[in-house]
Amino acid sequence: MKIGIFDSGLGGLFTLSAIAKVLPEYDYVYLGDTKRLPYGSRSHETIYEFLKEGVDFLFAKDCALIIVACNTASAEALRELQQNYLHKKYPGRNVLGMIVPMAEACAGYSRVGLVATSATVSSGAYEREFKKRAKKSKIFSLATPLLVPFIESGDIAHMRPVLADYLKYFNSKKIDALLLGCTHYGIVKNEFKKLLPKGVVILSQDTVVPKKTKEYLARHPEIASKLSKKGTRAFYVTDITPMLKKLANKWFGKDIQIKKVTIER
Ligand code: DGL
Repeated sequence: MKIGIFDSGLGGLFTLSAIAKVLPEYDYVYLGDTKRLPYGSRSHETIYEFLKEGVDFLFAKDCALIIVACNTASAEALRELQQNYLHKKYPGRNVLGMIVPMAEACAGYSRVGLVATSATVSSGAYEREFKKRAKKSKIFSLATPLLVPFIESGDIAHMRPVLADYLKYFNSKKIDALLLGCTHYGIVKNEFKKLLPKGVVILSQDTVVPKKTKEYLARHPEIASKLSKKGTRAFYVTDITPMLKKLANKWFGKDIQIKKVTIER
């Protein structure tokens, strides 16, 4: 069986490429719901429905474990889906999100800035998780909804002034770490780095999640033992956008095949 990676768009490809570098032997299936992106400005009900369709698709592709790389879906819908749907329908399989591992990674920092989509920030999921896993850390959350469209379109030049303006919010907060709470932001990590004071540590999925996945598999032999190790990669998206093709080729090579699928019911 395989490891599924779900995202609303292309950002999760970056997370997958980082996971696959650390754990190359496993078989991965990627699903990006590019046709319905962005999730970050949608309602709870819609995000729940989209995530449910996404995990149903990946479980039908023989995944034993799904990693929801999308912060918005993790924050807004994953807990409810786990409680009300997944355990009953897919016993013995599991779905992991981003909020727990990323909050755990913040534990050593005292003042953490969070940048994420509007839905992730308004869900309060990171604040809740900090109370359990990063008790001593104070969190300062900022919705930065304009960044994803810039990154999806590759228009980094126009993103720069917007990002600079967003980050002003943290000037008075004296943060020692900035949590990139969105799949896409890691892709432009250097742009954040250029604008932040030296000494502010950037925490992003590509550095945190591979290690956490490895630890999870070591702790859960009942899942790990089901996973096949042929090193295959399969890519499914609901729309093949030019930027997705470009980045997928950059990270996984020119020969990969990306298939367009329909997941909505
Ligand atoms: N994948 C989403 C996230 O990590 C960002 C893109 C979107 O809004 O759908 O929050």
